[in-house]
Amino acid sequence: MAKTEIQTHGLGSGPGAGTAGDAAPAVVLENVSKSFGDHHVLRGVSLTIRRGSITVMLGPSGTGKSVLLRCLVGLLKPDTGRVLVFGEDVAALDETKAKDREKLFAIRRRFGMLFQDGALFDDMTVYDNVAFPMRLHTDLSEAEIRERVIDKLHRVGLKGGEQKFPAELSGGMRKRVAFARAIALEPDIVLCDEPSSGLDPVMSATLDELIMEMHRSLGITFIIISHDTAEAKMVADTIGMLANGHLVAFGPKEEVFREDHPAIHQFFARETQGPIKVV
Ligand SMILES: Nc1ncnc2c1ncn2[C@@H]1O[C@H](COP(=O)(O)OP(=O)(O)O)[C@@H](O)[C@H]1O
Ligand SMILES: [Mg+2]
Repeated sequence: MAKTEIQTHGLGSGPGAGTAGDAAPAVVLENVSKSFGDHHVLRGVSLTIRRGSITVMLGPSGTGKSVLLRCLVGLLKPDTGRVLVFGEDVAALDETKAKDREKLFAIRRRFGMLFQDGALFDDMTVYDNVAFPMRLHTDLSEAEIRERVIDKLHRVGLKGGEQKFPAELSGGMRKRVAFARAIALEPDIVLCDEPSSGLDPVMSATLDELIMEMHRSLGITFIIISHDTAEAKMVADTIGMLANGHLVAFGPKEEVFREDHPAIHQFFARETQGPIKVV
């Protein structure tokens, strides 16, 4: 099921179609394209993400990494292509139809999201921030929610301080709270959009450790967008690179590095000349 060969350009042979059900890979993209007007952001992206893997997607700014994540959860619809999440084509679901909407919400509940700024609710305590998705999406009693909030905070290394407000916390602690909220609904996949941006190297390494710990203990599949090559080397088992709308590299970390792919090389060596064009 795992795609082991390296894709050298975005229009390579597509991965096999995901089969519905539990045997399906976490995510399969087949020839996904997305334009805004005449701006072609994604141009035929195909990839397969194994369950239980940690994929780091690299790429220059403005290259469509966040657009790709939004397509995964059905917040954006690609112009062409299929977006299979556990075998279900998210791109084919129509949110205006009740039955599809139900399916879409069920799929979204399998995702946790961790964004750049943490995006905590400033007027809610730490406790209420983590409880929020459970109150919104589940019928759990307050007693059950309490147990889970404490468990999640414990997992991210926060004990006590549940009644504090985000403004009273350090940047690193806010990030931990955001992480606890991202795993509140016990998701199968956690999407992280530039989780370490704005963090100092030590804090960023702590976050990486947290990702690896959650991966080990909860078996979560991570899809991480990052600019940080050190982070990619540290946490990824799979590395992808988007450039100029194409998936220019995708595969197991060791192979991507061994192939010395020109775009990967340019990115890691911080060279201004190469296949990645500065626009
Ligand atoms: N909703 C939108 N409408 C128009 N253009 C958009 C929209 N979302 C993203 N874009 C454009 O798509 C390109 C890729 O954006 P994005 O995925 O956010 O880049 P990044 O790789 O930095 O995450 C950018 O040029 C951005 O302006
Ligand atoms: Mg982005």
